[in-house]
Amino acid sequence: MASTIARIALPVAADRVWQLIGGFHSLPDWLPYIPSSALSEGGRVRTLANPAGEAIVERLEAFNDKERFYSYSILKAPFAAKDYFATLRVKPDGDAASVVEWSGSFTPVGVSEQEITQHFHGIYTDGLSALKEKIMSIPALGIGTFRLQGEVVIDSVRNGLEAGYRVIDTAQIYGNEAEVGAAIAASGVPRAELFITTKIWIENLSKDKLIPSLRESLAKLRTDYVDLTLIHWPSPGGEVPVAEYMAALAEARALGLTRQMGVSNFTVDLMRQAIDAVGAEAIATNQVELHPYLQNRKVVEFARQHGIHITSYMTLAYGKVLGDPVIRQIAARHHATPAQVALAWAMKLGYAVIPSSTKRANLDSNLKARDLKLSDDDMAQIAALDRGERLTSPAGLAPVWD
Ligand SMILES: NC(=O)c1ccc[n+]([C@@H]2O[C@H](COP(=O)([O-])OP(=O)(O)OC[C@H]3O[C@@H](n4cnc5c(N)ncnc54)[C@H](OP(=O)(O)O)[C@@H]3O)[C@@H](O)[C@H]2O)c1
Repeated sequence: MASTIARIALPVAADRVWQLIGGFHSLPDWLPYIPSSALSEGGRVRTLANPAGEAIVERLEAFNDKERFYSYSILKAPFAAKDYFATLRVKPDGDAASVVEWSGSFTPVGVSEQEITQHFHGIYTDGLSALKEKIMSIPALGIGTFRLQGEVVIDSVRNGLEAGYRVIDTAQIYGNEAEVGAAIAASGVPRAELFITTKIWIENLSKDKLIPSLRESLAKLRTDYVDLTLIHWPSPGGEVPVAEYMAALAEARALGLTRQMGVSNFTVDLMRQAIDAVGAEAIATNQVELHPYLQNRKVVEFARQHGIHITSYMTLAYGKVLGDPVIRQIAARHHATPAQVALAWAMKLGYAVIPSSTKRANLDSNLKARDLKLSDDDMAQIAALDRGERLTSPAGLAPVWD
């Protein structure tokens, strides 16, 4: 009998991870290589299809909600193994983190023990990475709300939700959290479908203010939690130490006030300090100004090395790149708009984008940027547009940029 085990650490509380995994029946939601599944015998048997269309039939053998595990055997599968028994378990690692373990035992049939062990280990490892991706991911395309106030922001969010957006970026300093909350409530879109980001303003960075200020944001947004909370700007002059506000943010996450946490306008040096404080695993994203004229490569490279996602703000350079001749030519070739080209470029590089618009037509067409496939040549032409042109650098707030 051979066995293998794969593990993944997640900076998310065990109960939450267990809830996201769902039961035995929801496995295919987070395993991308299982294109379809069906349940039978009252949910105790699941039939999965692999990409080759081969059936894998599994039977639930044990389930313990309190201990957060389930075990199952395989009744039929195209694997060179028999007597298969596997367990998926979520273990707490403190209040705010967990370890997911996937273990299995089996008897090889017609292959070496090493070969089949490696095969299952690969499946488990890929599966747990996909789970992490699902839990930790920052959605690729949302809407921004900077500068939008009163009825304008209410209209923009309502139009965005109607158009199909489910990701909304706001901030305490935008002074529109209450309107964003009102527009969401009026839309009737279930909370679970939404991904809401807010950002902590510099006045609220100290350990006694951060959590109360986030609670206030939640009240305005009419929700019990946000999906992502960012440190909007580093504390000017380092008045509040990075370690202090990152620890406070981690505490907010442990309390369930935010599902993920991250930073914004952080340089390489500041990211390093944030990593020293809470670990790179805990930092979901660094939201920075990034568009074809400011490609921010040092920050991107450092973030990538540490597994920190990049969110591009002002991807359209507040409209400035839309008149660029190179971008216009690429757009014409693809029968697309210049805005779609800029957004598709950023998404192809793996960045999340949050363009803002007050116009329904722009909201609609920006959403379609997801369907635009740029060529390597298009990407190279846009890469060459970088000219280090920063639009957002408020005096007294901006750090010393890389
Ligand atoms: N973390 C930070 O410090 C920070 C800083 C700045 C921004 N942000 C976030 O990033 C979001 C996006 O940035 P942003 O709003 O400043 O700039 P942006 O998204 O680059 O540009 C928005 C501008 O582009 C126009 N636009 C949008 N779609 C268009 C289209 N398809 N065709 C033509 N024009 C179009 C909009 O005008 P219309 O309204 O006329 O469509 C608006 O004037 C903000 O809303 C905010 O949520 C964060």
